[in-house]
Amino acid sequence: MARRPVCSLPIIGPVYSRVRAGLSIIRRPSYSEAVSRRVIRSGDAVRYSAIAMALSRLDEEQIHGAMAECGVWQGRLSSFLHSAAPSRKLYVFDTFSGFPEQNLEGKDNRFTDTSIDLVKQNIGDMTNVELRPGYFPQTTVGLEHEKFAFIMLDMDLYKSTIDGLDFFYPRMSPGGYIFIHDFNNPLEPGVKKAVAEFLPGKPERIVELPDWGGCLIVRKH
Ligand SMILES: C[S@@+](CC[C@H](N)C(=O)[O-])C[C@H]1O[C@@H](n2cnc3c(N)ncnc32)[C@H](O)[C@@H]1O
Repeated sequence: MARRPVCSLPIIGPVYSRVRAGLSIIRRPSYSEAVSRRVIRSGDAVRYSAIAMALSRLDEEQIHGAMAECGVWQGRLSSFLHSAAPSRKLYVFDTFSGFPEQNLEGKDNRFTDTSIDLVKQNIGDMTNVELRPGYFPQTTVGLEHEKFAFIMLDMDLYKSTIDGLDFFYPRMSPGGYIFIHDFNNPLEPGVKKAVAEFLPGKPERIVELPDWGGCLIVRKH
């Protein structure tokens, strides 16, 4: 039998469904009340909750290493990562002016509505946060010997994603997490293509999330 929509109004229905999704995640999470409130407000509770639980697990298992978000746009998720794990170093990589032309196949003007100042403002307290503006992976210079425990790759494009995997994978602490946004998003086919090329022959398996953007998780052996 077909399910009745929660509400026939075009805006209220989807908003109501997202609020409900936020309320139907895990009841007693391993993260704090304050983080939990941000998870529910995020509009993508499954992803944010999975990230917060991964960060708690890293602490529980005493897995050391920095966090990085690659592709941050206005810094909303960076702000969440920093508030959930303020004592871990956080690297924030982006052009801060939209997609780099050399990685695009056509024109794509999304994500140009940002700036370094806006991202700083959204993150707030910048203790332990380092912005790396410019074209990734050129912006990794000096981090060749860094160890990472949590990566969010959210750069949408094939070349950016494969460059991200090439750089971070060998620098992950055992047990560290790589989240890859848009893996199950047919609107960003380059992400799945990059993962399909990168992972064969590696010992790790993937876990897919039923979140808004179709994230993938790889936990390093
Ligand atoms: C989908 S947005 C990131 C959204 C953000 N993670 C969030 O949750 O709000 C993708 C970002 O990737 C950045 N990007 C893609 N390829 C890049 C590259 N090679 N170097 C630097 N930034 C890149 C774009 O500038 C854009 O801001």
